[in-house]
Amino acid sequence: MANLTVTIGNESFDNPIWVASGTFGYGTEAPELVDVNQLGAIVTKSITRQPREGNPPPRIVESPSGMINSIGLANIGVEKYIKELLPIYEGLSTKIIMNIAGIDIQEYVEIMEMVESVSSVIAGYEINISCPNVKKGGMEFGVDCEMTAKLTEKLRGITERLIIMKLSPNVSDIVSIGLSAEKAGADAVSAINTVVGMSINAKTEMSDIYTTYGGLSGPAIKPIGLAAVHKLYKKLGIPIIGIGGIVTGEDAAEYMLAGATAVQVGTANFRHPGITENIIDSLNTLLNDSNRSFSSELIGKVRTHS
Ligand SMILES: Cc1cc2nc3c(=O)[nH]c(=O)nc-3n(C[C@H](O)[C@H](O)[C@H](O)COP(=O)(O)O)c2cc1C
Repeated sequence: MANLTVTIGNESFDNPIWVASGTFGYGTEAPELVDVNQLGAIVTKSITRQPREGNPPPRIVESPSGMINSIGLANIGVEKYIKELLPIYEGLSTKIIMNIAGIDIQEYVEIMEMVESVSSVIAGYEINISCPNVKKGGMEFGVDCEMTAKLTEKLRGITERLIIMKLSPNVSDIVSIGLSAEKAGADAVSAINTVVGMSINAKTEMSDIYTTYGGLSGPAIKPIGLAAVHKLYKKLGIPIIGIGGIVTGEDAAEYMLAGATAVQVGTANFRHPGITENIIDSLNTLLNDSNRSFSSELIGKVRTHS
């Protein structure tokens, strides 16, 4: 068995296979379907200051090699997260990364201050600055270097835990946003969130999603995610967490070769909630077959033609 341990900032993770925000609930929903303790980390659903109902249905549709969602950050709100979930996380041996979303800097700050004011085992925060499905906030930060830097800097002043800024692919230059996050003190960036997409029913002549546009995820976006990770890896000095269309151990290895230190599995969890166990096993096999002792040996090792 290869050593799959990865280190990000001052945290060490048993393996680089994590589950992505919004695709695994709060990590406590289906203990009979998957042993969460075998995961490198659980990134929990985006949490806002107040509970949110999200967007009206229909808010999910299948698309070729993927799905489009417009959930709109439905979540239980930070107070319930602190009261009901943090105590459960004390009993897990996997690391918890809390994903936070907000409509302005104040909301992100308030949520983080509330969590920091209580004792908890969470390893860090993933900051969602890339949600395409809400009218205010979210992606407004992720498309603007200055706003990204301002938010990162503010949050850096509140916590010593990991700060991972989650980047959007819906920008002209993802690297400049990543560099802004790095300069302002982020420990890592994760990429990518969903890609803006649309689905139309030719028979009814209707858009399938209530909000017209939604976020495309699944294997359809893997090439976009790989390119984003590779571009970020070439310019940034902090770790990159790869996301987008991962279904197999080979997909995970491809992201690591592109430059990812760890990866997150999203949409694939809906088809098979225990898929991460297969991914960890097949990553191990792949490493053994190539005589590698550490998964970290893959990071950034892709060979390119030019
Ligand atoms: C139904 C659904 C809900 C999601 N909710 C969130 C969320 O609350 N916060 C967030 O940062 N990303 C959210 N995402 C984005 C995923 O975390 C991930 O970045 C994206 O789906 C790409 O990975 P995948 O192709 O493996 O699904 C959501 C994705 C889906 C499909």
